[in-house]
Amino acid sequence: MSKRLLPDWGWDCILQARHVVWAANGATSFIVRDIEVEIALGGAWRCAATPAAETAALLDLFLPLVARATPLVIAQLGQSLDGRIATESGDSFYINDMEARTHLHRVRASVDAVVVGVGTVNADDPQLTVRHVPGPSPLRVVLDPRARARPQARVFHDRAAPTLHVVSTAAAEAAGLAASAAQASPRGGLAPLARDELRRLALPCTDAGFEPAAVLRVLHEAGYRRVLVEGGGVTVSRFLQAGVLDRLHVLVAPLLIGSGRPGLTLPPIDALSAAIRPASRCFACGVDTLFDLDLRREGFSATARDAAAAPAHPAGSRAE
Ligand SMILES: NC(=O)c1ccc[n+]([C@@H]2O[C@H](COP(=O)([O-])OP(=O)(O)OC[C@H]3O[C@@H](n4cnc5c(N)ncnc54)[C@H](OP(=O)(O)O)[C@@H]3O)[C@@H](O)[C@H]2O)c1
Repeated sequence: MSKRLLPDWGWDCILQARHVVWAANGATSFIVRDIEVEIALGGAWRCAATPAAETAALLDLFLPLVARATPLVIAQLGQSLDGRIATESGDSFYINDMEARTHLHRVRASVDAVVVGVGTVNADDPQLTVRHVPGPSPLRVVLDPRARARPQARVFHDRAAPTLHVVSTAAAEAAGLAASAAQASPRGGLAPLARDELRRLALPCTDAGFEPAAVLRVLHEAGYRRVLVEGGGVTVSRFLQAGVLDRLHVLVAPLLIGSGRPGLTLPPIDALSAAIRPASRCFACGVDTLFDLDLRREGFSATARDAAAAPAHPAGSRAE
């Protein structure tokens, strides 16, 4: 096996694939560190040499996220085996292993914008930048309808990436905050942000909060077509419930907390047949297990199981 085809090589391929204009290309090929790799729209790949198993898994996991012509909305949650994302007091450092953090930074580098709820900003004071892998930091979007984010939060001051503070029109007026208004209409109103810009945006908001589809429409119209909803549980649950997520990454740690903040919370259902059972893949991520859920495809059918059991693609190639 070639020494060069380690995960760093795979990550370089993914970063290159991220910049391909997939709407105009059904497939592409390029050379990364002397090795040619071919990538098809949708993420199937082939290369001249056999990559290490972790490298192949990395390509399998990330190429479907970047080799697509349509917008992507992905969410992630890192949780304990019993479904908690933080303790009752809000401590979430570190539910997951170090490798999970690297994974999260890779997802950030794969998207144009990362969305968090104000609960996460106030509890964690996150930077939301890409630091553990090479790659660009996305636009940071804070959903804060009542304008209750701590003013000293790092995302508002560090100028490490552009930041959009989304408040409700009513809160902006009540607090006398300067905010540009964007109509959640096909014409939109948001211009792309400069590299280290902080901007406040006022959006219409009902008792149910901002409509996730309206938030995404504003971002998409400004050119932020790949969006990560990074947490916390309330925010991811709202986007899931609204049916706007294409994918969900759940990183499960072998940890039992027994109490604390829940990950996903959706309205009650009576029958399991009403539960969401998406197509899923499983990846090792240090001591954690990553579930990659494709929310646009059903899972658990006999056909899907048979297909999963079918012989693998030839060495050095893979299709999702
Ligand atoms: N393990 C992980 O993966 C992970 C990731 C992130 C955070 N966390 C942890 O999770 C905890 C915070 O999570 P959380 O679930 O309590 O809060 P959160 O999701 O971070 O923030 C929730 C708040 O954000 C606002 N918001 C979110 N979506 C909205 C929408 N569509 N429309 C209007 N407002 C919206 C609302 O603010 P208002 O209440 O003002 O209406 C809502 O109550 C922290 O302890 C953090 O450490 C864990």
